[in-house]
Amino acid sequence: MSTQVQNEVLKVLEERHSVKQYQAGHQIPKEVLEQILTTTSQAPSAWNLQHWKLLVIDDQAQKEKLLPIAYGQKQIVESSVVIAILGDLEANKNADAVFGPAVDAGFMPQALKDNLVAQIEGAYQHPQVARDEAIRNASLAAMQLMVAAKSLGYDTCPMGGYDAGKFIEAFNVPSRYVPVMLISLGLAAAPARSAGRFSLDQVVVSNSF
Ligand SMILES: Cc1cc2nc3c(=O)[nH]c(=O)nc-3n(C[C@H](O)[C@H](O)[C@H](O)COP(=O)(O)O)c2cc1C
Repeated sequence: MSTQVQNEVLKVLEERHSVKQYQAGHQIPKEVLEQILTTTSQAPSAWNLQHWKLLVIDDQAQKEKLLPIAYGQKQIVESSVVIAILGDLEANKNADAVFGPAVDAGFMPQALKDNLVAQIEGAYQHPQVARDEAIRNASLAAMQLMVAAKSLGYDTCPMGGYDAGKFIEAFNVPSRYVPVMLISLGLAAAPARSAGRFSLDQVVVSNSF
């Protein structure tokens, strides 16, 4: 670890890596899993529409069913839980539930709510916007989940390597949701393989291309 990294959050971020070998059979305490999921759902989202659904797969038989859909990746069956992060393609429908209580409590003028809802409905006329927003916002929740897990001593592996069509069919995912990624969650049995990163001068552009 870099000697400059003293801050706890930065340490967790630096130490998070994709773990593929887990202590099979470990059961995550209910309150720990709930804490991770609660922190996940505190992720930011456009208009606070909270474009995610978290499908928690902890039943071993369901994980066995998922294994071939995820091309045999062992972390599916060896981790304690697999969480499918789904993006909400109809998050515009959340607007009333999100803004209504603020209006009722007198924190938000009705006119502002009407204005926001009109903006949202305008944007959601475009299916590409709905899909982009679903994936963008649900991905923030996914990152939040991985960091929360790591801070509580658990490890994760995000996975895009699965057949989304078969996943939808096997787990009865309603058409409202798009699978964004699977995340295995559990206690590491072996550390993550080290994966390097590009240097800052390879990724940072100042002011303009
Ligand atoms: C969207 C996404 C999809 C990924 N899919 C897989 C996967 O299917 N299987 C896997 O073993 N790792 C997968 N990874 C993990 C990456 O390989 C890993 O994050 C990257 O190599 C960096 O390593 P680190 O996470 O250990 O720092 C995925 C990561 C992301 C963000």
